[in-house]
Amino acid sequence: MRHLLEIDDLSVDELKRILELAVDPAPPQVLAGQGMALLFEKPSARTRNSMEMAVVQLGGHPMYIQGDEVGMDVRESVEDVTRTLACFHACIGARVFGHSTVERMAAVDQVPVVNMLSDAAHPLQALADVVTLQAEFGDLAGRTITYVGDGNNVFRSLAIAACMLGMDVRFAGPAGYRLVDADRGRVAAAGVEYEEFDRPDEAVRGADAVYSDVWTSMGQEAESARRLADFEGFRIDGTLMAAAGAQAVFLHCLPAHRGEEVTDEVVDGPSSRVWQQARNRMHAARGLLAWMLGEAAEPAAGGGGAT
Ligand code: CP
Ligand code: NVA
Repeated sequence: MRHLLEIDDLSVDELKRILELAVDPAPPQVLAGQGMALLFEKPSARTRNSMEMAVVQLGGHPMYIQGDEVGMDVRESVEDVTRTLACFHACIGARVFGHSTVERMAAVDQVPVVNMLSDAAHPLQALADVVTLQAEFGDLAGRTITYVGDGNNVFRSLAIAACMLGMDVRFAGPAGYRLVDADRGRVAAAGVEYEEFDRPDEAVRGADAVYSDVWTSMGQEAESARRLADFEGFRIDGTLMAAAGAQAVFLHCLPAHRGEEVTDEVVDGPSSRVWQQARNRMHAARGLLAWMLGEAAEPAAGGGGAT
């Protein structure tokens, strides 16, 4: 049984296979007659909708569950919630605060667990990002992506996915908002190397893609005013895109805090591929599930008969 908590849970060959399945117009109906639990401790527009539609396209039934409703570690333990959902579903997706929550769910090991965003990682987003980049550039080996802003969950997963596909990764963000030591160790262990810059204009020069995410992630709202001040100078605007060059496309996982990390002229401008990215969330999710519940699955994967 395979789980996806972070992109480097996959080998490079497995990642490439998922990317092939993502663009398969006739995906195997690996969820026919089965359910997938989609558990959210945080809000979502793209992840919930893309996962629900991916499950439907694979013949399955998606079940949206709010975190408060099941009360993980409040009403019953994370492990018991997981065991319960595994009685009914072939797979569980979870969007959580602490990454340890998805690790605990995966450790139950009764059905595959997909991390739909934790404070540490957002692998589904990274899959959609590389689907989008491949559609734009074809083979990604030797291409350069520059991430400007907060060294957060989205950056960590993106950096790993991009490096696994042979891209050069650059990062520009203020001191204090770069990957924490534990995450640096994690990405280094995955063989990921990336270059850090103090100045965004130097980091973006010649890049094929420029990427941004919000400066204040879900759960960090109390730090918003301080973050707004600390990130000043790392906004992606027309001038910064011009410094990158005419070849550069702009990516953002969304939702965007327009006027903070990126200006309207960039999100809505000709370099922007943000809506392709959003659309590719569904294709990437479908590719992942087709692989995870098909080729990667053991013969008897959960949601089975009466016991
Ligand atoms: N990019 C992303 O995960 O969006 P949502 O938070 O809307 O799901
Ligand atoms: N870094 C953001 C991503 C939202 C999709 C967050 O965690 O809120």
